[in-house]
Amino acid sequence: MSSSKPAAGKFTGRVAVVTGGASGAGAAICREFAEQGAVVVIADLNIAAAEKLADELGADRVHAIAVDITDSASVSALAAQVAKQCGGPADILVNNAGVRIVKPLLEHTDEDWAKMISINLTGHFYCTRAFAAAMVERGWGRIINIASIASFVGRPDRAAYCAAKAGALGLTRGAAVDLRHSGVTVNAIAPGSIATPLNAEAKNDENVDWGGETLVGRWGQGRDIAKAAAYLASDDASYVNGTTLTVDGGWVSAKARGGEIHAS
Ligand SMILES: NC(=O)c1ccc[n+]([C@@H]2O[C@H](COP(=O)([O-])OP(=O)(O)OC[C@H]3O[C@@H](n4cnc5c(N)ncnc54)[C@H](O)[C@@H]3O)[C@@H](O)[C@H]2O)c1
Repeated sequence: MSSSKPAAGKFTGRVAVVTGGASGAGAAICREFAEQGAVVVIADLNIAAAEKLADELGADRVHAIAVDITDSASVSALAAQVAKQCGGPADILVNNAGVRIVKPLLEHTDEDWAKMISINLTGHFYCTRAFAAAMVERGWGRIINIASIASFVGRPDRAAYCAAKAGALGLTRGAAVDLRHSGVTVNAIAPGSIATPLNAEAKNDENVDWGGETLVGRWGQGRDIAKAAAYLASDDASYVNGTTLTVDGGWVSAKARGGEIHAS
């Protein structure tokens, strides 16, 4: 367990809830917020992993709470538990939990489709609805939806995932409009190829070079997403609303065709 000394930082006094915070990008976001002084809630289906991370980050200010974001009763219970356990309701919500099914469109089952939509889209709606009311009441809040480059472009064997992630941007814009003039902003982050457990197979495959396909020439790391989330969650971003910050090393902005790029 790390030091229990309260950290001073730009999120001191803020309560931040990160869904899917036990792994990958979510874990990096939890780490960043904790280092910047927030009280952090690692809200995850995998409570063992959430508790392990909470212990590592400093269990007095970092809480692990089990939730299934596809179950609205579980999400309501999370919101109530946060308010009780953290000295007040959440100021910051990062809708990060997500899963991806990779298989051809014609092989997607009803269950595959339902799973992609319920975790990657409906869960974000349930959490937004459950946490936004207290933010509006208090006149300040930050909601950040983790979308994807698949929100913008078709990706092979990911039709349901692409649909859900595109929907996350619609939810972002619609929620930002409905929460207007309240001090609560709603934005999205669209990550590119981030080296997390979700991508372990591609990262370890020597025939796959997702890092080399970017304009930066490397895989993204969880901390790249965490730094973007920390910006959008801060007071510095008070004029940024209803929009999407793409953190993909430039992948969607510039696509080279064969022959256009020559080794130098
Ligand atoms: N890794 C990438 O390259 C990449 C790219 C674009 C977008 N994203 C998005 O970023 C987010 C984080 O991805 P990651 O790569 O860190 O994934 P990850 O697999 O490392 O972590 C996902 C976390 O979500 C949790 N989770 C899954 N279902 C849940 C549920 N029903 N309720 C609560 N928690 C649940 C898991 O237990 C896990 O801890 C996801 O929304 C993903 O779609 C990732």
